Amino acid sequence: MIQRRRILVTSALYYANGPLHLGHILEAIQTDIWVRFQKLRGHECHYVCADDTHGTPIMLKAQSEGVTPEQLIARVNVEHRQDLADMLIGLDNFGSTHSAENQAICDRMYLALREAGYIDRRSVRQAYDEKAKMFLPDRYVKGICPVCGTADQYGDSCENCGSTYTPADLKNPISVVTGTAPVWRESEHYFFKLSAFEKSLSTWVRSGATQGSVARKLDEWFTQGLRDWDISRDAPYFGFEIPGAPGKYFYVWFDAPIGYLASFTQLCNRTGLKFDDFLAADSAAEMHHFIGKDILYFHTLFWPAVLEGASMRRPTAVHAHGFVTINGQKMSKSRGTFITARNYLECFSPEYLRYYFAAKLSSGIDDIDMNLDEFSTRLNSDIVGKLVNIASRCAGFITRNAAGALSKALPDPDLYDAFAAAGDGIAAAYETLDTAGAVRDIMALADRANQYIDLHKPWTLAKQPEKAVQVQDICTQGLNLFRVLMIYLQPILPDMALKAQRFFQESSWDWASAATPLLGSVIKPYEPLATRLDPKAVARLVQPQADAAASAQPVAPAGGASDAASLAAAAAVEGNMISIDDFMRVDLRVAKVLSASVVDGADKLLKLRLDVGELGQRDIFAGIRAAYDPALLVGRLIVVVANLEPRKMRFGLSEGMMLAAGPGGKDVFLLSPDAGAAPGMRVK
Ligand code: MSP
Ligand code: ZN
Repeated sequence: MIQRRRILVTSALYYANGPLHLGHILEAIQTDIWVRFQKLRGHECHYVCADDTHGTPIMLKAQSEGVTPEQLIARVNVEHRQDLADMLIGLDNFGSTHSAENQAICDRMYLALREAGYIDRRSVRQAYDEKAKMFLPDRYVKGICPVCGTADQYGDSCENCGSTYTPADLKNPISVVTGTAPVWRESEHYFFKLSAFEKSLSTWVRSGATQGSVARKLDEWFTQGLRDWDISRDAPYFGFEIPGAPGKYFYVWFDAPIGYLASFTQLCNRTGLKFDDFLAADSAAEMHHFIGKDILYFHTLFWPAVLEGASMRRPTAVHAHGFVTINGQKMSKSRGTFITARNYLECFSPEYLRYYFAAKLSSGIDDIDMNLDEFSTRLNSDIVGKLVNIASRCAGFITRNAAGALSKALPDPDLYDAFAAAGDGIAAAYETLDTAGAVRDIMALADRANQYIDLHKPWTLAKQPEKAVQVQDICTQGLNLFRVLMIYLQPILPDMALKAQRFFQESSWDWASAATPLLGSVIKPYEPLATRLDPKAVARLVQPQADAAASAQPVAPAGGASDAASLAAAAAVEGNMISIDDFMRVDLRVAKVLSASVVDGADKLLKLRLDVGELGQRDIFAGIRAAYDPALLVGRLIVVVANLEPRKMRFGLSEGMMLAAGPGGKDVFLLSPDAGAAPGMRVK
């Protein structure tokens, strides 16, 4: 029996001034897979997140839209929730940092820090925009780099030479808000004494709370020395006023991580969970934060120190990931590679993206490239070609020939046991965030399942009525292997797994369900679980900005259909249509295989001699050797394109092409007319 863990999990809060994009979604998917895995293992796991709503950028964005910040963040919150739900992110609570719960915890923690002597007051000289009547954050002042002289640099660092400095160092500084030259004003700020935590933080880091590469980065920061942290901002500022400090507000990064706890508080209030069980200094529960590598400083230094200073528990672990790039480049609006969650969802299933990211994510902080060609190839070959193929090849025989009933015993229990035994390694990979490793192991099992079916060829045996029991047994084995794979994939493909679970007529699955086969029960008729991706439609995810804007407000295609599915279908075929005349020019005929043989020196090819009725006999070379035993093809009816220009190959002339389905390799399925068709008949 595995000990039941109690785990609180978060993804980083989303800024409430724009839509979610695939970078945000990568993180949500990584977190969600881990959470679903923990739940599947029987642990108590709570996943919370929220919008990050305070600070200057949101205040100014609202101003520019002519709405209040409250109106802006309310609208964005609705969009974010919908995007996350549609990506199948199983959040237990999604809140906002602009909530009563957050304000209460911010006050409480701040007062605890002050009480314990961790808050200092100091005078700070800061850029002030007299026209906008506001203090300017460093990034809202631009000017000439004092070191290399490059124009148009932000007030904190130079993009050209990498120097860091303060806005006061810039030459010819101007305010980004009004374009006027800022003045310098003194104001009193509140500082959190981070330096007091240097020792305990370095112990915490060494406790395994961060990945190895992150721990090394932190060591650099420790060597540089930790500077106290300015946690206050002057009015006007969209945020919470600091208790006992009129006109001073908590800096957005002070109240943002506390937003994790506020969102969790809402969950506690709704469900009766006890906040202190998870947050008290001596809590035995775990707390895990998933973040991008750009916000490490906040999560591995400020946040654990603030928690400790307020006498609360520190995170069990902070898991950082790298950045999503598209076709090798940073996402960029001008290049058209800025893919929002909504753009993606309008075209494709969320599970395709979940699978793709899962297959690429490991525990490191390297960037993750989404290559659109690889995306469709990988999905078509793994999910459609391998995984779903197992079920679709077996289910029909059980439904049609065995009244839906699975056999009472497996013909190859050892093979099943091997699948069950692989579960421990796959679980270890999920646990350590090596989802790429988990996917690799699962797909290797899928290959074995397909090999089993290829070897036993239920479709051949099914032609002999006396072999009915054997067919039922083979397909029971195949479906049970498929069932194990779907249980293992449930964290990644929750919807497909649910459909599979219903197909098997089971009420629930946990990780341990994979240990025992499903025997003797009745399954439902199989319905396709996934369809192929059209690479052309995938390529359309990136496009110049003008186009992107147009497709974000889709026009209903003729016929008035405007739902996402039909739009996606339209996108998939658009530019890909042929006229009826084009189609009629293709001369499709029934042909009979007279002989089939391997071709020396070409290990993928078979040479077939065909009888095409009135059109005579022909030779065709086809790349189907991995899929078919030549002896078994003789006498079979197939469909060929009869008016294809003959093509000279190294081994002879190929006089046509035969029709087959499947991704290739072992997975090629010849199309054949039913008995009764005769060689030479036209296929229409
Ligand atoms: N609001 C802060 C986080 C506060 S947490 C107390 C923030 N917001 S964000 O919207 O900019 O980013 C949210 C998360 O998405 C961060 O973890 C960030 O690293 C991640 N990503 C943003 N762009 C990303 C990519 N292109 N790729 C992968 N993750 C990215 O930071
Ligand atoms: Zn410079």
